[in-house]
Amino acid sequence: MKEILENILLAIKGYEKDEFLKEAHLGNILSFIHQNLGKDSWVGIYRFVEGKLILSSFQGTPACEIIKIGKGVVGTSFANKEVIYVNDVSKIENYICCDEKAKSEICLPLYKDDNIVAILDVDLPFVHDFKEEIDLYSKIAKIVEIFL
Ligand code: SME
Repeated sequence: MKEILENILLAIKGYEKDEFLKEAHLGNILSFIHQNLGKDSWVGIYRFVEGKLILSSFQGTPACEIIKIGKGVVGTSFANKEVIYVNDVSKIENYICCDEKAKSEICLPLYKDDNIVAILDVDLPFVHDFKEEIDLYSKIAKIVEIFL
């Protein structure tokens, strides 16, 4: 998995900051991550809008559109401003199921001008320990932030 994440990082580093193309770049970056993690993965962004987290660009099956702050892995990651990973989603109570296929999940806060503005959410279709990959996922999140 580390090698896959390193390849994703190398590829998405190539996108230059460009105001006109940022939406297009963001979509392509999410698509690239999704393709490399596999067709049953899910990767997307929940943006903070008027006190709630709203589904924004994503790749994968249709997902929950509104998440309250503090609810689920996404809402808790936002409320606590921390990276949260869940190796096995069946083991936690504060989990919002959008797709039965998802078995593990990592959420990373995204910042703009030092303010938390969104969450990058990745679901994998298998139980998985993210511990050794936090650094790589955080680097990916830093690149995604450029195109918010
Ligand atoms: N599982 C998330 C909800 C979002 S989906 O994974 C796309 C959660 O518990 O917050």
